[in-house]
Amino acid sequence: MSATALPVNEIQSDWKRVMKSAKLKIGKKRMKNIGLTSIMLIRTKDGLHATGALCRHMWWPLAYGGKVKDGCVRCPLHQSTYHLEDGGVKEWSPFPLFPLYGRLLAKMRKKRPLQIHNVREIDGWIEVRLAC
Ligand code: FES
Repeated sequence: MSATALPVNEIQSDWKRVMKSAKLKIGKKRMKNIGLTSIMLIRTKDGLHATGALCRHMWWPLAYGGKVKDGCVRCPLHQSTYHLEDGGVKEWSPFPLFPLYGRLLAKMRKKRPLQIHNVREIDGWIEVRLAC
């Protein structure tokens, strides 16, 4: 085996090259598809994250307007907020336009965490292994 060859278990793994590392700068998000699965890539000053692309509340694509702050991503539609490390829900649809509106929207869908995928960078590429 040469010095640059990958071990056999890595060659046969489910890691997929998604995009060039240099095209995702700090503070940027990108939505990508791996087969039929849509993912969102986010690079923060703390690292690279791969999550499900759609908000678990009412399926807004988080790459479009999602705000990243303090290790969390906030959906622009009704403000649900997820931790990037584990996908846990920090806030579930607290949208306060009218006092009852946010609570009503929160009850329309069961609180669910954002899916987190494995992500790595090799040879200038971002690779993702989808979580089951
Ligand atoms: S769709 Fe994201 S919070 Fe409602």
